[in-house]
Amino acid sequence: MFTLPSMDSAAASTRAYPDPAGTRAYDDVRTSEAPRALATEAVHAGRDDLARQGLHAPPIDLSTTYPSYDSRAEAARIDAFAATGAEPEGPPVYGRLGNPTVARFETALARLEGTASAVAFASGMAALSAVLLARASLGLRHVVAVRPLYGCSDHLLTAGLLGTEVTWTDPAGIADALRPDTGLVMVESPANPTLAEVDLRAVAHSCGSVPLLVDNTFATPVLQRPAEQGARLVLHSATKYLGGHGDVLAGVVACDEEFAGLLRQIRFATGGVLHPLAGYLLLRGLSTLPVRVRAASATAAELARRLTADPRVARVHYPRIGGAMVAFEVHGDPHEVIAGVRLITPAVSLGSVDTLIQHPASISHRIVGAEDRRGAGVSDRLLRMSVGLEDVDDLWTDLDAALNGSVVTVS
Ligand SMILES: Cc1ncc(COP(=O)(O)O)c(C=O)c1O
Repeated sequence: MFTLPSMDSAAASTRAYPDPAGTRAYDDVRTSEAPRALATEAVHAGRDDLARQGLHAPPIDLSTTYPSYDSRAEAARIDAFAATGAEPEGPPVYGRLGNPTVARFETALARLEGTASAVAFASGMAALSAVLLARASLGLRHVVAVRPLYGCSDHLLTAGLLGTEVTWTDPAGIADALRPDTGLVMVESPANPTLAEVDLRAVAHSCGSVPLLVDNTFATPVLQRPAEQGARLVLHSATKYLGGHGDVLAGVVACDEEFAGLLRQIRFATGGVLHPLAGYLLLRGLSTLPVRVRAASATAAELARRLTADPRVARVHYPRIGGAMVAFEVHGDPHEVIAGVRLITPAVSLGSVDTLIQHPASISHRIVGAEDRRGAGVSDRLLRMSVGLEDVDDLWTDLDAALNGSVVTVS
């Protein structure tokens, strides 16, 4: 297990909740400078002030607005936010400007990813949209991206829904694809759904001064920390492993404080905020992230091994860095595998405690044109499985029966 570097000022501070008597509002709490391991950060980051307040579980602040009798001070705080996007000192003015419960999750995720800041959104797609808008607002509308990406991310870029223009390339072609108006390079590694990996350090080098965004949804900071390899922006669909239980829709971007300020301003202006209850559930999810990811990854590696040895399976995709996702191509009919599972849930999404399976060509990547999809390695016989925390033999029994169904249909 690796140890995290010591805290810098932005990530070390936790926006404290006002004490019950209301005498001490939102002071920054700095904790020990000693480096802490990822497992320790997972359960303590974003909660550093709680014991001092006599609390154990983090409070949930559902306020949409915050009273203040000092409108001169409010004006100054709003001006400061408009200038830099830094989180306003003191209590938030309005829920769209910031929320203390959500801020706890942001602090914790930044610590886990090793960045100064993180900004949370209502979904992964809202997070990506904010990044694109932040760059486009500077006139940098061109994006260089490597396929495959999650289907809707691909669609957002291909359709140019936010006025951006994309050049698709492979990692080796990134440097040549850059233009003076390139605002972003985007990759996923391991990628959805083929689990293809890119050498993040090499890609970051090719980007020069253009920000590299790595979608780290599949790896999570437990397996990979892209900021350490040169990524300026680390994106998560927090809906997946960070939440971990299939009951929260959320997105987050971990980055430096300068970019975070821009993202907060975009979030304020466009409204894709995360609900505080979701912020609470995400903070709770983070505390078990390392345990969940490691346990599910061990099961996934064993299932990948069994699938590789299985004559009904044509090809297995499992990343070098490991993880809880397995993709495989069947000789028979993939739709019959989906129809045949009983313990495994046939559903899109991933990263939950229970195992999910889906057919990317029908669901997660349906919106990508068939030619582009196949060109990105997403074969029509590919199935993507998100392995959960069930017993490996129970999962194999279910998969084995479902695979039999696929063969019977074809013969
Ligand atoms: C890798 C990846 N990035 C982004 C997203 C979008 O996230 P959300 O569904 O939370 O908007 C997804 C969703 O499946 C995903 O798998």
